[in-house]
Formats: sequence, structure tokens, C-alpha cells
Amino acid sequence: WGTLGHDTVAFIAQSFLSNKTASFAKTLLNDSSDAYLANVATWADSYRYTTEGAFSAPLHYIDALDDPPTSCDVDFERDCPEEGCIVSAIANYTSRITPSNISVAERQKALKWVIHFLGDIHQPLHVENLEIGGNGINVTFDGVATNLHHIWDSNMPEKLIGGYSLEDARTWSGELVAEIQSGKYANASSTWLNGMDRNDPVASAMVWAQDANSYVCTTVVPQGQGAVEGKELEGEYYDAAIPVIQQQIAKAGVRLAAWLNLIVEGKTSPG
Ligand code: ADE
Ligand code: ZN
Ligand code: ZN
Repeated sequence: WGTLGHDTVAFIAQSFLSNKTASFAKTLLNDSSDAYLANVATWADSYRYTTEGAFSAPLHYIDALDDPPTSCDVDFERDCPEEGCIVSAIANYTSRITPSNISVAERQKALKWVIHFLGDIHQPLHVENLEIGGNGINVTFDGVATNLHHIWDSNMPEKLIGGYSLEDARTWSGELVAEIQSGKYANASSTWLNGMDRNDPVASAMVWAQDANSYVCTTVVPQGQGAVEGKELEGEYYDAAIPVIQQQIAKAGVRLAAWLNLIVEGKTSPG
């Protein structure tokens, strides 16, 4: 996701953190403001472009070698290479947030990574190989030449909300939190924590990856890559994508909060 998506995921998560987790995060991040998670949600995207952080670029995705639109699936052994992927990165950095033998600076970075990667693993094209996660599929959106990955990360969320500022993210998060608590996600959201096991972070992250990857076949390229290549996707394509984007951002926020609560409170599974 772009800035709007990541900041919105972080604001949603802030709404569902326990008091204990919220104060833990504010202390470790050294930020007592009302945007303590959102303020660090895109740090990982700046860091990946630094010399020091170049190693982390492949950690933002897992390149599922599935066969959309015929079949969609992610396989950890097949798709996560030796150098790591978003699933192994979530497991690794999850284990580096609380131990007292790890420096505060490293634990702070680990928390920032988990906040970011829980967002990215919900973007269908971050759990899909097809033409480098859709970066190689040229499309236009509102007449502007771009690619399929970019419209899912940024153009479509920004068209929906009308901007990408921190305040836009706060507004969107408020709408989605209301849907989670008593609106269109009230029933479904109780199932969003299924499969979450603090003792098996790889299996937990694979549940999220499989879930997001399934939308590649139903919504991202339901008629195959040829049906979107070179096309203008504002219109019917956008209308079909928006409900998936909204739901994936909502899920990411709910799961991020629950995951951080497990980490900080030393629990195994939610509820
Ligand atoms: N680079 C290679 N695969 C990618 C993906 N799935 N998402 C983003 N960047 C990528
Ligand atoms: Zn992306
Ligand atoms: Zn990212």
C-alpha cells in the first residue's frame, strides 16, 4: 500500500489495542501523540531505498508462483526464498519486539516493520508473483499511465478518499472502525482472527497471505492479465476493487491490533 493505506491500517489498529499494548508501543516508539502507530507506518518504505536498508526490499512481498486466474494459492516452501519474504519477515521481527536482551533501537525497528508488513500482506499484489506483483502490467487510471500494482497500492484508495494525508487516513479509519464495530463487517470480523497463533507466526502470516492472494483470482485479474493490460481501469474495474480494498484495509488493522496484543501480553491466541 501507499501512505494512505498504511496510515489507515495503523489508525484502525490503534482503536483495537489494549491499554497495555498502547502504552508499550508509545514508550518503545517514543511517541505519545494520537498517531503513534500511524507516524511510523511507512518508515519501512523509506528505509528500503537507503543503502543500509536495501536488504529489506524483498521483505515487503511474497511472490506466489500460482496460476491466476485458474488457481490462486501461496506455498511457503515454494514461494519464500532463502533471503526471506514478507511471511518470514513477520515471524522474524515479531520475535524481536519484546526480548530484553535486544536493544531498544532494534526492538523499535522490529515494531515498525511488523506495523508495515501486516499492512502489505493484505494487499493482494504483495502476495502474488504475476509480472512482478503487477508492477509489469501497464494500465491507465483516470487517463494517467501507471501499472496494476500502483493502482491497488495508491490510485484506487486515494480516489475513494480524495487524498493521502494523515487526516485522510484518520477519516477513513474512523469509517472502517464503525463498520467493524456495528456495520457491514460486524459479523465477518469475528472470523478475521481465525488461525492466529503467536506460537506459529509463519502459519499465522500464511493465513493472511492465502486470504489476500485469493482476491487475485476473484478481483485483481479475474479474466487474466490480458483483460487489464493497457486498459483504463477507472470504472467497472475500480467499482469491483473498492469493496476488496476497504475490507483488506479493515482486516489488516484488526489483525495488526490483535497480533500486537498477543506479542505484548504474552498470549497465544485471541479471545
Ligand atoms: N517485487 C517483486 N515482486 C513484488 C511484489 N509481489 N510486490 C511488490 N514488489 C515486488
Ligand atoms: Zn506495493
Ligand atoms: Zn511496503
